[in-house]
Amino acid sequence: MQNILKFASDSLEERANEKVTGRRDFTQLMLEAINSTNGNDRLTSEEGHVTSVMLVITGTVTTSTMLTFITYVVSKHPDVKEKLFKELINAMPEKDTTISYKHARKDCLPYLWAIIMEVSRMYPAIPGGLPRLTPDGGDIIAGQFIPGGTVVDVPIWSIHYDARVFKDPFEFKPERWLGEDVENLMKYNVVFSAGPRMCAGKNLAMMEMTLALAHLYRRYGVSLVEPEEDMEITQQFGLLPASRQMNVYIKSRDH
Ligand code: HEM
Repeated sequence: MQNILKFASDSLEERANEKVTGRRDFTQLMLEAINSTNGNDRLTSEEGHVTSVMLVITGTVTTSTMLTFITYVVSKHPDVKEKLFKELINAMPEKDTTISYKHARKDCLPYLWAIIMEVSRMYPAIPGGLPRLTPDGGDIIAGQFIPGGTVVDVPIWSIHYDARVFKDPFEFKPERWLGEDVENLMKYNVVFSAGPRMCAGKNLAMMEMTLALAHLYRRYGVSLVEPEEDMEITQQFGLLPASRQMNVYIKSRDH
């Protein structure tokens, strides 16, 4: 934890001391808010540091864990890996082609998107319930009156394994995301939660995962060191491989 605090605080300080201007990223906006003289927009430097720490915590383990699960599941399904490679060859004819997110989204790489949706359904990085407080005076939830001040939540895992929505929920089927009812299904993939307090980094995380996977699988053959072994999963607020690691062979493709 000390390392995270130091990293977040050093990064903010380093950027504040940089002479480069014109960068429009989150850190830049935060620094502008810290330096702002407008009371409404202003962040205190403590608020800036806390935000910086929060972004490091929320934005790292989640995405890296999802990438681990996706690599694991794809490695366990050679047919899926082959189909993904074919899609990537079309989009990136040369091995060293670099694509931007504009060309790596759902409409350009639909199979990769379907894999991400399906693995995130089966292995949501944050699987449990995210608590919410009912308002004063209570509210009706799912047809039942719940008094005000009650903590309620719906575990993400339970939604993702609801067989009324996802047929054969324990089966890995990326194709389910390529069918006609995809708009409806998307409402029930809540890996980033839903509503006004949902993940603030959803777009960034999707961008990171899509670009990392597209370039990884286009350039390298990836396979598990122990393909016969099933990964044991554990939950510590978030889902994690129980061994905290997954070993893979990575071999550069010839072309
Ligand atoms: C695949 C990766 C990620 C997953 C699965 C994920 C998932 C989640 C979930 C389930 C929540 C809880 C929302 C709620 O309480 O309803 C959350 C909150 C949050 N996430 Fe992410 N997240 C990911 C990546 C990121 C990244 C990359 C960032 C930013 C760098 C980020 C920033 C945040 C922030 C700031 C919150 C708190 C939002 C609030 O309370 O208003 N997340 N995330």
